[in-house]
Amino acid sequence: MIADFQAAENMIEGFINMIDGRRRFFSHMKMVICIPSGITEVEKRAVFDSADHVDSKETYLIHEPMAAALGIGLDVEEPEGNMIIDIGGGTTEIAVIALSGIVCDQSIRIAGDEFTNDIVSYMKRQHNILIGERTAEQIKIHVGSALHELEGDLAPEDYAVNGRDLMTGIPKQIKVGYREIAHSLDKSISKIEDAVLKALESTPPELAADIFRRGLYLTGGGALLRGLDKRISLKTKLPVQVADDPLRAVVRGTGIALKNTDRFSFLIDRKSV
Ligand SMILES: Nc1ncnc2c1ncn2[C@@H]1O[C@H](COP(=O)(O)OP(=O)(O)O)[C@@H](O)[C@H]1O
Ligand SMILES: [Mg+2]
Repeated sequence: MIADFQAAENMIEGFINMIDGRRRFFSHMKMVICIPSGITEVEKRAVFDSADHVDSKETYLIHEPMAAALGIGLDVEEPEGNMIIDIGGGTTEIAVIALSGIVCDQSIRIAGDEFTNDIVSYMKRQHNILIGERTAEQIKIHVGSALHELEGDLAPEDYAVNGRDLMTGIPKQIKVGYREIAHSLDKSISKIEDAVLKALESTPPELAADIFRRGLYLTGGGALLRGLDKRISLKTKLPVQVADDPLRAVVRGTGIALKNTDRFSFLIDRKSV
């Protein structure tokens, strides 16, 4: 999600500066930039402007769920429908993809960052302890769970958390287990489930049949939350697969798009916005 275009431009510039100097000098710079599916035309133009400012000679935009689908190896040009649930930091994007297009999509501003905030408030409310965002993210990664009961080796050990006691002001350490984190994330995950159900409801029937057979694909960092696949599967009664290396599905797909800019009709160029 793009909240600050100046920051976006600085970030793009930072990435470009990481490219080896000589290669940068000799190349005609072509860029493919991922955008959330819910972005407005004005925002799209602003992304193109940012790319112009950093000297891109040829710029294309790609919707994130499309990039995610390419990145996990789906054939997005075929007539069969696939549903992608991409849970990033700021947004969760749910999209049905078929014939090189996004047939229907839902984008909600509940994703990994919201899970982290949920953990901060839970720790304050339940344990009277103040923790920072980074600590909360570590809790999410170490003992985050979407289910109150995890099977066997999926269940993580309790995690030691350091924070400041709100009553005494003194640093304190407590141990947290995955069950209480599952409890703290419950509401946000339900909102994601509702969005998935809504997306399924708005899927055209022929594609719904494909999705019924193939199931749903989970990508993005949020896909790493323990038990999330099972929870969504129980809710929808559909098979759910977590992509390999879900954190990099989008960027891998964007790389594939960059190599196929003359072939992929779904890439957005400057003229079309
Ligand atoms: N192991 C993990 N378990 C749960 N969430 C994770 C894990 N690793 C990363 N995340 C979360 O994934 C989010 C980033 O995912 P990503 O797909 O890279 O987002 P974006 O596309 O918005 O950049 C962050 O909120 C991060 O905390
Ligand atoms: Mg993403």
